Amino acid sequence: MNNIKRLYVFSPSLRIWHWINFLSIMVLFATGIYIGNPFFIGSQGIEPALAHGETLTMGLVREVHFIAGYILLASFIFRILIALTSKRDRLFIPKFWTAEYWFSIFETVQEYLLLKSSKEVVPHVRNHLARTAYFFIYLAIFFMIVTGFAMYGLSDPEGFWASIFGWVVWALGGEFPTHMWHHWIAWIIILFAIVHVYMVVREDIVKRDGEISSMFSGYKFFKKEPFDAEDLK
Ligand code: HEM
Ligand code: HEM
Repeated sequence: MNNIKRLYVFSPSLRIWHWINFLSIMVLFATGIYIGNPFFIGSQGIEPALAHGETLTMGLVREVHFIAGYILLASFIFRILIALTSKRDRLFIPKFWTAEYWFSIFETVQEYLLLKSSKEVVPHVRNHLARTAYFFIYLAIFFMIVTGFAMYGLSDPEGFWASIFGWVVWALGGEFPTHMWHHWIAWIIILFAIVHVYMVVREDIVKRDGEISSMFSGYKFFKKEPFDAEDLK
């Protein structure tokens, strides 16, 4: 029991970012799916002429989407700032060019396929498969921000957002493809979230390392010194 190491992994800034990011994405997904297909109040939402006195209108749902969009943007900028100012919170770029990276990926896949027990694999604070998923999810969130504000700018072609991201709609081939890309990547992020929560719960049950609570407390528990412990310094 005494051999268990308690390591400080996540700073308060990263934890606050994580939960704000999670909540804003949940609001964005719920309102976004409604914007794409306003199913529960008819195919067109409530007609503006009939919307007077109604609470749930397309106008309100879009407004909530845009407010959550600004919160997502602010939290993303915050994430970049803490990555630049605190070494512990830096963003990891997967080292595809190293043998160690592929070894860790291979071993993690073996572990998940139950071909190797979790006791046999080299312990990591964050394994390379997880880090690779996080890397692509940061890119996906960035893509949603860029395409979201590009579409937002369409309603004010002379405005600030159109001047910054106007080219994005053109580069993606027009308004419709931009909507579709924004829609598909929304689903990729939600699929990630489902698998992510599964993996986090699995890790907690199999390794009993306090995985779930680590995003609240900042601490994880290890029976052996993790291979990437240096990253915490
Ligand atoms: C992970 C974050 C986000 C998710 C999951 C999300 C989801 C969605 C979805 C599913 C749609 C409907 C697309 C369609 O089928 O036409 C949509 C539309 C839209 N989103 Fe997002 N979105 C996100 C971030 C943002 C951000 C940051 C903004 C910036 C303000 C934004 C602005 C818009 C706009 C302007 C539309 C089109 C609204 C309309 O045509 O009435 N989104 N979003
Ligand atoms: C839209 C939903 C979510 C997104 C986009 C998301 C994204 C992320 C990202 C990018 C990281 C890595 C942070 C870093 O080190 O740079 C992370 C870590 C983590 N998240 Fe989430 N997350 C989501 C939902 C959740 C939920 C619902 C839980 C609760 C069960 C959770 C628990 C955790 C934990 C425990 C870690 C640390 C995992 C590790 O050390 O590898 N996440 N998340």
